[in-house]
Amino acid sequence: MSEANLVLFKNIHIQGQNTLAVAQQQGAYKRMEKALGMSGEEIIQEVKSAGLRGRGGAGFPAGLKWSFIPKDDPRPKYLVCNADEGEPGTCKDRDLMRFDPHLLIEGMIIAGYAVNSKQGYIYIRGEFYREAEVLEAAVAEAYAANLLGKNILGKGVDFDLAVHRGAGAYVCGEESALLNSLEGEKGQPRLKPPFPANVGLYGCPTVINNVETLCAVPAILEKGGAWYSKLGVEKSSGTKLFSVSGHVNKPGNYEVELGIPLKSLINDYAGGVRGGWENLKGVIPGGSSTPVLIPEQCETILMSYEALAGAGSMLGAGSVIVMDKSTCIVKAIARLSKFYRHESCGQCTPCREGTGWLAQIMDRIETGQGREGDIDLLLSVCSNIQGKTICALGDAAAMPVVGAIRHFRDEFEYHVKHGRCMVD
Ligand SMILES: Cc1cc2nc3c(=O)[nH]c(=O)nc-3n(C[C@H](O)[C@H](O)[C@H](O)COP(=O)(O)O)c2cc1C
Ligand code: SF4
Repeated sequence: MSEANLVLFKNIHIQGQNTLAVAQQQGAYKRMEKALGMSGEEIIQEVKSAGLRGRGGAGFPAGLKWSFIPKDDPRPKYLVCNADEGEPGTCKDRDLMRFDPHLLIEGMIIAGYAVNSKQGYIYIRGEFYREAEVLEAAVAEAYAANLLGKNILGKGVDFDLAVHRGAGAYVCGEESALLNSLEGEKGQPRLKPPFPANVGLYGCPTVINNVETLCAVPAILEKGGAWYSKLGVEKSSGTKLFSVSGHVNKPGNYEVELGIPLKSLINDYAGGVRGGWENLKGVIPGGSSTPVLIPEQCETILMSYEALAGAGSMLGAGSVIVMDKSTCIVKAIARLSKFYRHESCGQCTPCREGTGWLAQIMDRIETGQGREGDIDLLLSVCSNIQGKTICALGDAAAMPVVGAIRHFRDEFEYHVKHGRCMVD
């Protein structure tokens, strides 16, 4: 991708970009100034025409979400940035916050103004200690320069912003659990509807967006929705940060246009598969909850929301976990099942009990204690979880198991039959 098209990482390698002085040299807050001269409706229209979809996992169109905030409603409106980033394999938001915090703050002021919110919160994962400090310093600088607070730059617009540190629960990345946590309650998901756009933080209309989503907004204001929509492919427009990890020679966060072939992302950006492409066993394309792809699919698949859904997986948060042939798929998925059991909040029986069952059965298959019928039992437990829970954590626990059995059933069977792994 040409450097000129970089949207999110354009300035990330500039020394001191986390400071207001350097960020302003690169044009920070100019897009905000432009936005404050527009109406909220015009901004929403620009973001809609960009085709920007939420980068937190579900891919919901950002402009449409903003337009759900009721206009003639006397209640305060809130804007919340989801910076919890707990999905295993995902570490892209962290780079944005650490190296270009003013980009996020600018995106939030624009989004807040568009939906008539005067108060924003950044809910940041507790483990991101350094990033929270960087953000807090950037917020203080922005206040000192009257880019936040009352009557921003004399334009009659008020917007306050606070950084709130989470306490390390993956489920608090789920938007309604995040709101409960922000209110000081137990971080457990709420039943939906009502949706946050109507009943969100403190019972008021609330927009919740991912860090990466909000960081794409300033460039959309600067260059226009039409420009942004030409990046990427139809229905999956723009650029995306992919966190590529696992058995590649150059793991890292890479910004590319959506729709890039997975093979090109791995070979041209992440330095190729350890031992060469022929050594590839499978790729988890969108973070730990997304079903694994096999090499035949990886040859041609495009990294778009539609293409991955068509292949029975998901783009998710864009975390590409590459596994070479030394990987025991049963062991890898068993580890994930353990994670989801640990992170289930326990509110719904199918998730609380089901994740426990998945972890237990996966563990016994992996350690050579598997019983005849265990693989079908896993599938049955998954079907009793999927679609039957308050939040999507239940689905997230089931999907990797179903995906792995779909493509690697022979390995599961080998484990059960021989009490050991075929790759060891
Ligand atoms: C269990 C679970 C964990 C989640 N964790 C995150 C997270 O860490 N960051 C995030 O942005 N979205 C996360 N989400 C998705 C959010 O609920 C929500 O859809 C997202 O923040 C909306 O932002 P977007 O529209 O900009 O994508 C999670 C969802 C679930 C079900
Ligand atoms: S699906 Fe799991 S994590 Fe989500 S609310 Fe139910 S028990 Fe809690």
